[in-house]
Amino acid sequence: MVELKLVIKPIEFDERRGVVRWLDVRLVPWEEVYRETTDYNRIAKAIKDMEIRGAPAIGVAAAFGMALAAIWSKAETVEKLVEELEKAKRVLESTRPTAYNLFWALNRIWRRVKEGVEKGVGVDELRRMVVEEAKKIYFEDIETNKRIGEIGAKLVEDGDTILTHCNAGALATAGLGTALAIIRYAVAEGKRIRVIATETRPLLQGARLTVWELVKEGIDVTLITDNMVGYIMSKGIVSKVIVGADRITRDGYVANKIGTYTIAVVAARHRVPFYVAAPSSTFDLSLEGPSIPIEERDPDEVRTVLGKLTITVPTVKVYNPAFDITPPDLITAIITEKGIITPPYARNIEKVLKGQE
Ligand code: MRU
Repeated sequence: MVELKLVIKPIEFDERRGVVRWLDVRLVPWEEVYRETTDYNRIAKAIKDMEIRGAPAIGVAAAFGMALAAIWSKAETVEKLVEELEKAKRVLESTRPTAYNLFWALNRIWRRVKEGVEKGVGVDELRRMVVEEAKKIYFEDIETNKRIGEIGAKLVEDGDTILTHCNAGALATAGLGTALAIIRYAVAEGKRIRVIATETRPLLQGARLTVWELVKEGIDVTLITDNMVGYIMSKGIVSKVIVGADRITRDGYVANKIGTYTIAVVAARHRVPFYVAAPSSTFDLSLEGPSIPIEERDPDEVRTVLGKLTITVPTVKVYNPAFDITPPDLITAIITEKGIITPPYARNIEKVLKGQE
């Protein structure tokens, strides 16, 4: 069995100092700047401003935000600590609306808080419970990435050219990534793999982050602009598509970076398998159909290139949805740490996630 080491550590928690440390991915690939804080409000800002991004990384960061709120609270009673934690949860929840991992992580911590209160634990024990749960979320994400990588690599064949969109790599998780973990495992198993990365306008997560990760590890990657996907597929160059996800409904609708749906449509036209790689923490079993809330971001992200160069008439109207929704009939399979889910999703998602298969 192949063992892969974490080369990139985008987010970490120093428990001794009560500090969260993260790589500011807005600056990648130009600079590798790590930032630190003891304040959950700063974590919320880092998520909102996309210094930390990618669904699993957002979930881990929010969990660590709660740990900071617990550690640095001056509360002397359980009631006061719960009140402060509730406020921190609200602040962290209001950062980005689409990635389900954010709400999943916060709800998980919150269940621990309620458990502590019901058990009648003291204020220091409640603090400890929150910190322990946040650490668990972090370590589980690392393990989950590995499982997704191992399971997904079985679908990858020697000689494959895999197209991926946005960044579903280490810089989007606490570990090896989701889609990129699969590629990392396939390469480590000795398969010759080529990757095509779409640039991913407007914030260029593909060009900046996916390319940076793969080049760093010597994995063969070719960059294209988003509008080249149709031509490249029509030439028969792509053998598989693997993307990540921000939220998946119980019947298999997948929200992911804007442009994913277009790629899925073109892949179906050319009979290229379209895979989604995601941890179980990305599934929102309370939703069905294309009902996932989609974040709309600042119009200037579209009017400019990363705020540096204005590329249009500055007053033009802009529409800037950050994600789109791919329907289940365009998805060949969803690769999770619990196994590979195939259609019909309305039946198989719950079956696999609940371990009934
Ligand atoms: O806006 P971002 O950069 O947070 O969007 C990220 C994505 O769309 C990723 O593909 C998704 O979160 C999966 S990351 C493993």
